[in-house]
Amino acid sequence: MLDRQQIKQVLLNLLLNAIDSMAGAGGRLRVQTRTVVKPGGKVWVHIEIEDTGEGIQETNLEHIFDPFFTTKHESGEHEGTGLGLTIVHQIIQEHHGEIRVKSAVGIGTTFFVSLPALPA
Ligand SMILES: Nc1ncnc2c1ncn2[C@@H]1O[C@H](COP(=O)(O)OP(=O)(O)OP(=O)(O)O)[C@@H](O)[C@H]1O
Ligand SMILES: [Mg+2]
Repeated sequence: MLDRQQIKQVLLNLLLNAIDSMAGAGGRLRVQTRTVVKPGGKVWVHIEIEDTGEGIQETNLEHIFDPFFTTKHESGEHEGTGLGLTIVHQIIQEHHGEIRVKSAVGIGTTFFVSLPALPA
């Protein structure tokens, strides 16, 4: 059970960021989903969103979920408000889920979303 509109917003924000990160040279956007049964029987839904874009500098990684943190004023493509990931983080928290990120500059970025699967 989840808030359909809010989870749509989460996926949209993550997908738009992935697309932005590949604006120059193009690349590959991969989405993987699966259910995972944890010891004790709790079911979680895992969603991975992986791009082959520009990546995130290590010094920026700890700030990407902060309100108004953006690097998109430099790019010239279009201005970012820096609220996309803040909203993502908040919605995941409200669903008692988790979000993690792995990134390497010049190689790409993967966001890992985990949501507890609650019966309807
Ligand atoms: N997939 C990604 N690849 C590379 N950098 C990313 C990626 N996702 C997020 N970032 C970095 O994190 C910053 C914050 O992302 P966030 O979505 O919060 O804001 P934004 O995309 O800049 O603006 P907006 O509010 O329009 O979403 C981005 O400006 C970018 O530097
Ligand atoms: Mg964004």
